[in-house]
Amino acid sequence: MTKPVITGLPADFVWGVSTSSYQIEGAVKDDGRGPSIWDKYCRLQGKIGDGSNGDIACDHYHRWAEDVAILRELGIPAYRFSVAWPRVLPQGRGPVNQAGLDFYDRLIDGLLEAGIEPWLCLYHWDLPQALEDFGGWTSRDTPLWFADYTALVARRYGDRVSRFATFNEPNVFTLFGYSFEWAAPGIASKTAHLKAIHHVNLAHGDAVAVLRGLVPTAAVGAIHNCQPVRPATAAPEDGAAVGLFDEHWNLAFADPQLLGHYPPRIAEAVEPHVRPGDLARICRRIDWFGLNHYAPIWAKGDAGRMWGFAFGGPPEGTPYDDPGAFRDQLLSLTRRYRLPIYVTENGKGTFDKPGEESLLNDQERIAFHRDYIEAMAEAARAGADVRGYFAWSLLDCFEWGSGYAIRFGLVAVDPETRDRTVKASGRWYGEVVRG
Ligand code: BGC
Repeated sequence: MTKPVITGLPADFVWGVSTSSYQIEGAVKDDGRGPSIWDKYCRLQGKIGDGSNGDIACDHYHRWAEDVAILRELGIPAYRFSVAWPRVLPQGRGPVNQAGLDFYDRLIDGLLEAGIEPWLCLYHWDLPQALEDFGGWTSRDTPLWFADYTALVARRYGDRVSRFATFNEPNVFTLFGYSFEWAAPGIASKTAHLKAIHHVNLAHGDAVAVLRGLVPTAAVGAIHNCQPVRPATAAPEDGAAVGLFDEHWNLAFADPQLLGHYPPRIAEAVEPHVRPGDLARICRRIDWFGLNHYAPIWAKGDAGRMWGFAFGGPPEGTPYDDPGAFRDQLLSLTRRYRLPIYVTENGKGTFDKPGEESLLNDQERIAFHRDYIEAMAEAARAGADVRGYFAWSLLDCFEWGSGYAIRFGLVAVDPETRDRTVKASGRWYGEVVRG
C-alpha cells in the first residue's frame, strides 16, 4: 500500500495515536478504583450490542508497558490517553486513591523514557458513579468537583505533561447519554440534557482556569467531534432537521467555549439554566482545538425522537467515508475559531472477526488513513492551521454500545489472552510517521 502524499504540513507536525481509559484499561476493581457510570450502564439489559463491558477491556492497566513498547517500536512520537476520574478519586471527590495516581505516574514516566510525548485528556466519558448519584452533569456542583479533580491531576502530572485537554467530545456523550440513550447514564430528558450541556461547558471553563493557574506553561485544548450534517434524503423533514442537529453536534460546546455564545436554538432552550456571568466563565482562551472526525452525519427528521432528529444513512450510492468532508471541516474550523487544530481522532471501524485475514492485513484501514491524511495535507495547503494527527486507535478496544464488535485498532488484541499483534496498518502508520 502506498504512502500518502504529504506536502504542506508544518515541520513540527505532531503524529500520534489516541486511546481512552474505560475503553482499554480494564482492572475496574483493582487497587481501589471506584465505579464509573459506564460500569453501571454496561450492566443494563440490552445496552451493549454484544453484552460486554470494560471490566477487562485490553487489560492496559496491567499491560501498559507492552503498549508503550509497541509505540516505541513503531516510532509513534505522541500518545493521547485519558485519566479515569474514578481511578484517582473513587468517589469523584474526597479521598484520593494513591494507587490510581501511581498508575498514571508509571505510564507517563514510561512514555517519556521511550521518547513519546504524553497528551492527557481529563474526561473521556467515565464519570464516577458516586457523582452520578448526586445528579452527575445535571448538577451545578459537578463542575466544582471537576475543578478539584483537574487540580489533583495538574499538580501531580504537570511537571511532566504539557499537553492537556479538558473534555473529549462533549456533544457525543451528552446527546447519546441524555437523549438517544445510547451512552451512560442513559437518560432521555430534555431538561437533563440541557443542564448537562451547560454544566459541562462550565466545567470546561473552570478546568481551563485551574490548568492555567497550576501549569502556566501547559498548552491547553478541548476536543470536539465535528462532522458536516447533511440531509439523508430530499424529504422536507430531513432538510428541516439539519439546523438543530448541526447546533447540537457542532456548535453547542465549541461556540460558547470559543466565541462566548450558544448557537441560537440552543441558546433559547438552555436559557433557564444559565446564570449571569456563566458565559464568561465558559469562554476562556485555549491554545488548541482538538478535532475528532470520522464521516458526515446524515440527518433525518423524526418526530418520535426527543429533538425531532435522528441519524440516517448516506443516500444510495454515496460512500460513508468522505475525505473531502474532512478537508472542508479543517478549513471551516480554521476560519471559525482561529486556533491551531490537532486532529485528535480519525480512524476506520471494521467488523473483522478473529481468524479472518482482514483482521491483521487491514488494507481497508490503511486506505482510509491514507486518503484522510492526504485530504488533511490538502487542507493545510489551502490554509487550514492543522498541526497534528492522532490515529484512533492504538488497540482494538471496547467500542461503547457496540462492545468489541467494531475494531479501530492499529494493533489487534486477542479476546482470550489479550496478546497484542501489530496489524499491517500499524506498520504502515509507523512508516508514515517516521517518514
Ligand atoms: C470517541 C471514541 C470512539 C470513537 C470511534 C469517538 O466518538 O471519542 O471513544 O471509540 O469515536 O467510535
